[in-house]
Amino acid sequence: MAENKFINAITAQEWLGEIGGKLRPAVIGAFKSGGKAGTEIKNFLHGTWLGHPLHPLITDVPIGSWTASAVLDVLELSGQKKYKSGADAAIAIGLLGAAGSAITGLTDWSGTTKNKQKIGLMHGMLNLGATALYTTSYFLRKKKKDRATAIALAMLGYGITGLAAYLGGHLVYGEQVGVDHTQVSAEYPEDFVAVFPEKNLKENQMAVAKAGKIAVLIVKQKGEIFAIANTCSHLGGPLCDGELKEDCSVVCPWHHSQFSLKDGSVVSGPATEPQPKFDVRLMNGQIEVKLAKQA
Ligand code: FES
Repeated sequence: MAENKFINAITAQEWLGEIGGKLRPAVIGAFKSGGKAGTEIKNFLHGTWLGHPLHPLITDVPIGSWTASAVLDVLELSGQKKYKSGADAAIAIGLLGAAGSAITGLTDWSGTTKNKQKIGLMHGMLNLGATALYTTSYFLRKKKKDRATAIALAMLGYGITGLAAYLGGHLVYGEQVGVDHTQVSAEYPEDFVAVFPEKNLKENQMAVAKAGKIAVLIVKQKGEIFAIANTCSHLGGPLCDGELKEDCSVVCPWHHSQFSLKDGSVVSGPATEPQPKFDVRLMNGQIEVKLAKQA
């Protein structure tokens, strides 16, 4: 299939992995160096506050604006000069949107590894190239110089944006980046089911049990028992292999999203969707759980 050849050609590029291997720690380190404020900015850029990745919302701005500018440029080329200023304004709006897309995309990208990281890096590089072409086009338009070249550069930028958008779509639909990995199954228990003997659960230890097909993370902390889905909403990492914090939260071992055990909410991204939370009760020495109703 043509799509697989294209994606396979990207994931075979070792240099992408090398650049990614250096850039990712730099991005993560930059946020870390900002302390609490850095974490809050990172969470904002991921879209934790929105319960949804922020990046795809913002990408609509440059794609929409540059689609409009392409249409207006074509109208201008067909002799309708009145659309000139509209095309220029659409390019400027697209450039503002591209800046927002770049920073949110880079933040999300820092939560990826392996092939996802390579495809994401190529996606970003194509978008940077397209933005450079649109920036040049915009300045040529403002200087009222060589309008034909300005329009040609914008058209080239539009084609590259389309290619980058294709890779962005593949990251979501093919690689499932930005998808809530806790929602792939609708089989969360709605009635209490026994999952684990209470006597086997030690204070400050994580245990994983099955409620039907759902893996449940069970933790006893400060005498209270908590249960949330074990599969990380970000990219499906096993929370039971992560780090249990003293403040009733757990850190995913894969990309270090942090979730509250009390309500499953995201304390720190890259995850944007919360973990499903379970109500817990004790019955005949067994820990029983059922999916908690959303507040
Ligand atoms: S899988 Fe990425 S943070 Fe959990």
